[in-house]
Amino acid sequence: MKILKDKNIVLGVSGGIAAYKAPKLLRILQNAGASVRVVMTKNACDFISPLTFEALCGDKVLIDLFDGSYKSAIGHIDLAKDCDVAVIAPATANVIGKLANGIADDALTTFMLAVKGRKIVCPAMNDAMYANVAIRRNIMRLEADDYIIMEPSEGALACKTEGKGRLADCDKIADGICEALTKKDLTWKKVLVTAGPTREFIDPVRFISNPSSGKMGYAIAAAAKKRGGNVVLVSGPTHLEPPEGVKFIRVLSAKQMADNVFMNAQDADIIIKAAAVSDFRAEETFEHKVKKGKADKISLSFCKNTDILKEIGLNKKKGQIVIGFAAETEDLEKNALKKLKEKNLDVIVGNIVGKPGSGFEVDTNKAVLFFKDGKKEELPVMEKGELADLILSKSRA
Ligand code: PMT
Repeated sequence: MKILKDKNIVLGVSGGIAAYKAPKLLRILQNAGASVRVVMTKNACDFISPLTFEALCGDKVLIDLFDGSYKSAIGHIDLAKDCDVAVIAPATANVIGKLANGIADDALTTFMLAVKGRKIVCPAMNDAMYANVAIRRNIMRLEADDYIIMEPSEGALACKTEGKGRLADCDKIADGICEALTKKDLTWKKVLVTAGPTREFIDPVRFISNPSSGKMGYAIAAAAKKRGGNVVLVSGPTHLEPPEGVKFIRVLSAKQMADNVFMNAQDADIIIKAAAVSDFRAEETFEHKVKKGKADKISLSFCKNTDILKEIGLNKKKGQIVIGFAAETEDLEKNALKKLKEKNLDVIVGNIVGKPGSGFEVDTNKAVLFFKDGKKEELPVMEKGELADLILSKSRA
């Protein structure tokens, strides 16, 4: 969301029942530091009062092309001049049809034709209308004209039916706006990311694992996707939703992770291993649950798992960038540098685990980047999403 800071966003609101959700979107964008102004259709004013938006953004809403009381005689052009992103939420069938055909007969559609920045359309309507061939054709046309379409979601609709037509979630729309603003420096690049823990089963109900939540790896996958990458995310078990648009492969054990990473590594341009892979697995596994019986103690022996990152690093293809993580509880620099060298990495992200605000499970991380040329960059505590972007930027510099 940092990218929204100081950006000029124009929110277009057209006349559908989902118009009541537009103020929430406006607040999300404002809270992220964006300056938001609003253009409404006359029909939208039947669903929600312009006063709501004026109170929230402290600026007059543009509704009428010929409104003498608006601060500028050519408000639709002035608004478009410094607009970084124009987003219409909700966009009705009527507005979509007009935009697809270049019709400009009100303030919103005329303004949209003058916008040079990115344009996002978030349809919301009855499911049968959304499936109608005319709408499908108009949406394809808008996509061909470089509009970004944020698909509606499925669920209960105001017209008492169920189907695809609900306005996309406001957080998702805000994410889409961030993505639209992000420089696409990973276009045509395949980025392979691993995340989460592995589970090494002992019997059908017991395993050894670690507290990795997957947050760090998923943040990297999401950041790479936003930058235009063709992202493959190989993940151990987590409770997270995979980022939209990435190829997602769920695995359980280190062996499954290794198989899927090796299968996808050949043609990857960037490989980032944020997963907390178990170094060992039980030498013997049991088909059925082990009963405690009369024993006071039991012993298990473990054998080593393949070091996936080391295999990848030592067999690195020309031009490939391989980035590892080092999760340490002590001697961060010494241990990270050892791994950087032994695994032939381009960069290693050292992070201390077991301290507040860093490492496993939390939303933030405190990392030090160590580069193969000996450079080092110590970073402050930051959101994992922000760190993900920094890792991607610094590793390609
Ligand atoms: O998932 P979160 O809750 O957000 O937590 C994030 C994190 C702490 C898990 C993450 O930031 C992190 O540090 N990931 C690497 C954890 C780890 O396993 O570190 P390691 O020092 O044991 O391993 C070094 C590197 O080798 C890692 O890139 C690891 O993925 C890789 N490895 C390790 C063992 C193995 N058998 N195969 C590997 O590829």
